[in-house]
Formats: sequence, structure tokens, C-alpha cells
Amino acid sequence: MEILHISNELKARILLEKQAGRSIGFVPTMGALHKGHLSLVKKAKKACDVVVVSIYVNPTQFNVKEDLDKYPRTLKEDAKKLTGFADLIFNPKTNEEVYGDSMELKEYDFDGLDQPLEGSFRPGHFKGMANVVSKLFSIVQPDKAFFGLKDYQQFLLVKKMVEIDNHPVDVIGCSIIRESHGLAMSSRNERLTPKGREAAGIIFYALNFVRKFYSNYSVEELQTRALFLIDGILDVEYLEFRNADTLEEITELKKGVHVFLSFAGYIDEVRLIDNIRFEVE
Ligand code: PAJ
Repeated sequence: MEILHISNELKARILLEKQAGRSIGFVPTMGALHKGHLSLVKKAKKACDVVVVSIYVNPTQFNVKEDLDKYPRTLKEDAKKLTGFADLIFNPKTNEEVYGDSMELKEYDFDGLDQPLEGSFRPGHFKGMANVVSKLFSIVQPDKAFFGLKDYQQFLLVKKMVEIDNHPVDVIGCSIIRESHGLAMSSRNERLTPKGREAAGIIFYALNFVRKFYSNYSVEELQTRALFLIDGILDVEYLEFRNADTLEEITELKKGVHVFLSFAGYIDEVRLIDNIRFEVE
């Protein structure tokens, strides 16, 4: 496994692999890797000959400067975790290696998919995310790219960006990896107190409650019951029922609808997100 910091060096390296007929799998990350990230890398390794993992804390997707400064940077440990799974790590030395001379961002028309949920609570976040992923795709030119469904809205937007920018890449969604009590793995979990980490298991419990019992209640009742479980443990930002394809709000669970139940909230001053999707039977 090699760590490269210069995009031209990475490009040259990847060109050699492509000329040798090898397929390229790509996993973009911001580092502080955990088992959720590693599951994407393992999936990439199964599907592709060469796996590239980028580790880059992208400044343009942070709407709060403090979060950018606080983001953990743990390259050494990350590289250790990737040994045996990834072939190349791209850890850009400077922002210029990714963005070139100008960090001016492109405006994307996402057909409204960027507006609700994370879009409304983290203004500018998706614009920066889509820009950096597009830049990284141009550098790496992967055949397949792997994204976690934990960030389901991000996954939809990456697919849309790929259409708009015409990147010849398959975008593959990978299931959410959870701790044994159900909490979705996240770099942010490290900032929770042991008590908070345990208690945050209630998020998945509540989401599952909805998936199990949706046929007994209206959407409004389901929301009230799920919130009742979570309230007092987490400070809820949103818990919304959305159509998983259009992200439009759902008020009724009609047969065949693909539901995306999305959560964001705070515990120990740490913001956590999670979701489940299911089809109404
Ligand atoms: P980051 O938060 O580091 O996540 C990198 C990838 O890991 C994303 O596709 C995310 O959905 C996935 N992931 C995180 N936790 C997961 C879990 N518990 N189970 C499965 N997958 C999980 O997402 C980003 O970075 C950035 O926005 C990025 C795409 C790299 C652009 O900067």
C-alpha cells in the first residue's frame, strides 16, 4: 500500500494500472476511519482490482468553521487500518492538489434533493461535498465508487452530480454498519461519553419500531411514538418520513412506497444522524 500526496503522482500511478487492464475502485473519506469506512473498502476490494481511498478533510463542506478545526486527523492510524485492504491512499498535501488554483464552487441543480433534511440544517454542506467528490472523481477516474447509506441524502446527490458532470463511474451504496447495540458507526461516536454512547442506541430502536409497526399507525402517530422513545435522551433536530427516491415528505404509507425515515439529533453536544429505508407492503 502506498500513500500519495500529489494528485499528478496519483494520476500517473492510476494510469499505469488502467493500462495494465486493472479496474479502479474508489472510497472517498475524511479519515478517522472506523469499521463503517472499512466495510466500503472491503466491498471495493471484492469488486475491483485496485482500491484507492482518499483521506481529505474537505474545508468547503463544513458550514461551521469550528467543526472543521475539530475534525480528527489520524493519518497514521488510518493507514494502519487500511493495510491489506487498500492499494493506494490519496492524502492531498494541500487544497490546491484537489481544487487547483481556485476554490470557487460550482452551483449544481439537484432538482431540490439538496433542500430538505441535512440540506436545511447544514447550509452549503452539499454544495461543498458535491464539488469535492466531482474533483476527486476527475483525479482518480474510478470505475466504481463506494458510498455509505448512512449518508443516504449524500448518496443520492453524488449520483445526481455524476449525471450532471458525466463521470463514467458506477456509484454503489453500502449498508450501514452499526455497533452491537444499534448505534450507527461514526467518527463522532468517539466524542460521546460512555453513557451517551450506550443511550444513543435508542435511535435505531425507535427507527426499527417504525419499520416493525408501521401498519398499525398513521404517519403522525408513528412519528409521535418514535419521538416519545427518543425525547429526553437526545435533542431531536428532525425525524422525518420521506420518499426515498424523491425526498418528498410522506404523510401516508401507501403500498409500494419506498420510505426513507431520517433522523438527526444531539447527545453530549454531538450531532448524530441515522436512517432506515423500507418498502410499504
Ligand atoms: P466520511 O464521513 O469520512 O464518510 C466516508 C464514507 O463512509 C461515506 O460514504 C459514508 O457514508 C461512509 N460511512 C460512514 N459511516 C458509515 C457506517 N456506519 N456504515 C457505512 N458507511 C459509513 O462522507 C464523507 O466522509 C464526505 O462527505 C466525503 C464523501 C468523503 C466528501 O468529502
